[in-house]
Amino acid sequence: MAKYTITINGQSKDVDVDPDTPILWVLRDELNLVGTKYGCGIAQCGACTIHIDGNPARSCSLPVSRVADKKITTIEGLSAEANHPLQEAWRKHDVPQCGYCQAGQIMSAAALLKENKNPSDADIDDAMRGNLCRCASYTKIKAAIKSAANS
Ligand code: FES
Ligand code: FES
Repeated sequence: MAKYTITINGQSKDVDVDPDTPILWVLRDELNLVGTKYGCGIAQCGACTIHIDGNPARSCSLPVSRVADKKITTIEGLSAEANHPLQEAWRKHDVPQCGYCQAGQIMSAAALLKENKNPSDADIDDAMRGNLCRCASYTKIKAAIKSAANS
């Protein structure tokens, strides 16, 4: 075990965990930030996407020891009152089906819009390719991203 002070959603949090623990499990099991989901565990589905220093990252495959000195943002910290333009657009377009993949989808989309305020269809496809949805909500996801980009 090792002690870390991690900056998550703008707050410092102390944890005492094995250095190899994926940050996903630190978030979920130690800090009760359960918006970030476990899907595949091998960086292939995107359900666990968070931001590390503003960039999208797969939290299931990142040991806490590698990210402890970085700024971490989860879906809970994306906006003050779940009112990020993407979250508004998600509601407007009624995107979620079962909902399981959606936090990861929104975090990937948020990273895209931070870098590219007016993404093309191809830009969206590129940015979102690694986020799978078993409910196939892809058409609505793309519509919501476009809507948020234009808001
Ligand atoms: S759970 Fe991390 S990418 Fe699938
Ligand atoms: S909404 Fe069900 S997996 Fe995406």
